[in-house]
Amino acid sequence: MSKTLSSKKCGPIGIFDSGYGGLTILKHIQSAMPEYDFIYLGDNARTPYGTRSFQVVYEFTLQCVTKLFEMGCPLVILACNTASAKALRTIQQIDLPRLDASRRVLGIIRPTVESIGELSKSRHVGLLATPGTVKSLSYPLEINKLYPDIEVTGEACPIWVPLVESGESQSDGADFFVRRHVENLLSKDSRIDTIILGCTHYPLLLDKILKYVPKGIKVVSQGEYVAASLKDYMRRHPDMDGRCTKGGTCRYYTTESVETFLPNASIFLNSDILAESVTL
Ligand code: DGL
Repeated sequence: MSKTLSSKKCGPIGIFDSGYGGLTILKHIQSAMPEYDFIYLGDNARTPYGTRSFQVVYEFTLQCVTKLFEMGCPLVILACNTASAKALRTIQQIDLPRLDASRRVLGIIRPTVESIGELSKSRHVGLLATPGTVKSLSYPLEINKLYPDIEVTGEACPIWVPLVESGESQSDGADFFVRRHVENLLSKDSRIDTIILGCTHYPLLLDKILKYVPKGIKVVSQGEYVAASLKDYMRRHPDMDGRCTKGGTCRYYTTESVETFLPNASIFLNSDILAESVTL
């Protein structure tokens, strides 16, 4: 961790997730910012993060961010709510000044939260997320900073990420667990009119989620909000924008074997890709 990283270099934007979920964010970012270069890193070998302690999520996330820095990324997006909730602040405040103060690491909770004020009329918002994200209280805290009148109710869905990671998101068995958590959430607060999918894996279960959410309740995936916010960030930070290379490429890395990563990643991205395995 004491490696020196050279400053002010240009390179691709790094997109990090514990596994496949960040691909749902990458897709939106790429379509909003097609001219940029990207590196995607999925820590598939150690997923899920959502059931792990603060310390472990922080250490794993820091290793992945450091790897993306070593690969030349001047900017890294934590396309993972669990990592954004549990590791972002420490990395920004403690590690970045030590590693390379000119680089940036951004999370995805804030851009999602900003959208909620306009979406909820009842001011009762539901959150479906990993146990780590729900327990961290990051969503209610961030939402209440901007919108003190909104009540947030969370439901942890510990099995949803493993369903996605094991390629079971479309299976009949997945319905049981999706229905259970949607119903649990709505039974805690019947006035919820907006549900945040506060885990980047969950859009991969969207068809099933929508089956069990009553009509009239909005289901909010994060991709478009994160993409719009990143585009805006680049406009406001021309120095960083100038350091992010623009060739329209994307390279994919996984901590798992390529043979394990590729089939699912290609399904989620709806296209064939090449990937490489990395050691952290
Ligand atoms: N995609 C991650 C998130 O947004 C999933 C975390 C996990 O690995 O459990 O929280």
